[in-house]
Amino acid sequence: MRPSPDRIERLPEQYFTTLLARVLAAGDDVIDVGRGNPDVPPPPHVIEALVESSSDPAIHGYPPFAGLRVTKQAIADRYASVYGVELDPEREVAFLPGTTTALVELALVLAQRGDRILLPDPGYPDYNSAVALAGAERVALPLGKDGRPDWEGAPRERVAAVYLNYPANPSAVAAPPGVFGEAVAFAHETGAAIVHDFAYGDLVFDGRRPESFLAEAGAREVGVEMFSLSKSYGMAGWRLGFVVGNTEIVARLNLVQEHARSGVFVPLQRAAVAALTGPQETVEERRALYERRRDRVLESIPGARCEGTFFVWFPLPDGLTFERLLDEHRVAVAPGEGFGEQGRGFARISLATQDEALDEGLVRLRRAFAAE
Ligand SMILES: Cc1ncc(COP(=O)(O)O)c(C=O)c1O
Repeated sequence: MRPSPDRIERLPEQYFTTLLARVLAAGDDVIDVGRGNPDVPPPPHVIEALVESSSDPAIHGYPPFAGLRVTKQAIADRYASVYGVELDPEREVAFLPGTTTALVELALVLAQRGDRILLPDPGYPDYNSAVALAGAERVALPLGKDGRPDWEGAPRERVAAVYLNYPANPSAVAAPPGVFGEAVAFAHETGAAIVHDFAYGDLVFDGRRPESFLAEAGAREVGVEMFSLSKSYGMAGWRLGFVVGNTEIVARLNLVQEHARSGVFVPLQRAAVAALTGPQETVEERRALYERRRDRVLESIPGARCEGTFFVWFPLPDGLTFERLLDEHRVAVAPGEGFGEQGRGFARISLATQDEALDEGLVRLRRAFAAE
């Protein structure tokens, strides 16, 4: 076989795979409070929709590549009712197998080789993989304390896309006021596309309202928003998500879909429709559960913050590292440096951790802090 192509060679270490292997190798007595895997199952009516649809013998053929009309309509209806954003289901919605797929494909359909893509720092590590696969150049976009990007310091030339993410993983900030307007202005100035990752859109706390990028004037002329069923409905393993907004970008994603993926299994789409259009109480119950856990973490960890997502971001006391927490105190967090240079000295706790484990993790973290 010939050597692997450079797009493979350029892929960074997969942060979460490496982290999980390190934590598992440390032994069974470790409490893992770093991992963001939703711990509450999807609503029963969603599972019923999957079972019922998949028991139809005629349903197992290829799906329509770009998604069922009813799926895209359900997405448009939810965006209208929850975020006040009207969407054309045929031209402004691309239905995809998860946001991870979306964030990689967006880099592929937006950037030429050598173009720049600006990524929030700290930010979600999988964006780096997207940039590598597209053969683009990653440029860090440092976020201030309030989560606002350093637009002044950003390059203006050859910027194909800017990825943003509010509420933000890992820093857990909600969108700072005016940030979407600033993003639209930056896009007009530079020609960059804006990609807003709204994976935690519904998970905001302290009475905040979810804020869609597409509610900003002019947003859909310059960009798109990604949404995931993983977090709002506890459906991470189902791999369901979508991209909404700019018609040209949506068309390019649908073209890739025709060439590379052949769509999403119809019973999964029926279940997605059930999730998006059925009773929404569980979304609020889930949000409230994470908020209660968030409160317990904030009481325990000095300097911790969280306005949304299911993560809490906090500064590690001097000299206390991820390794020492794991090896000496038997508690695993997600180390901040994996999220970018600005994450150095910080760590992330996941609220998608069962109450008992979370409480024990907090006991161990407090003990570790006291021993410093
Ligand atoms: C910020 C962010 N974006 C995207 C994703 C991927 O979500 P999905 O399950 O839809 O692939 C995650 C998952 O943890 C995330 O934290």
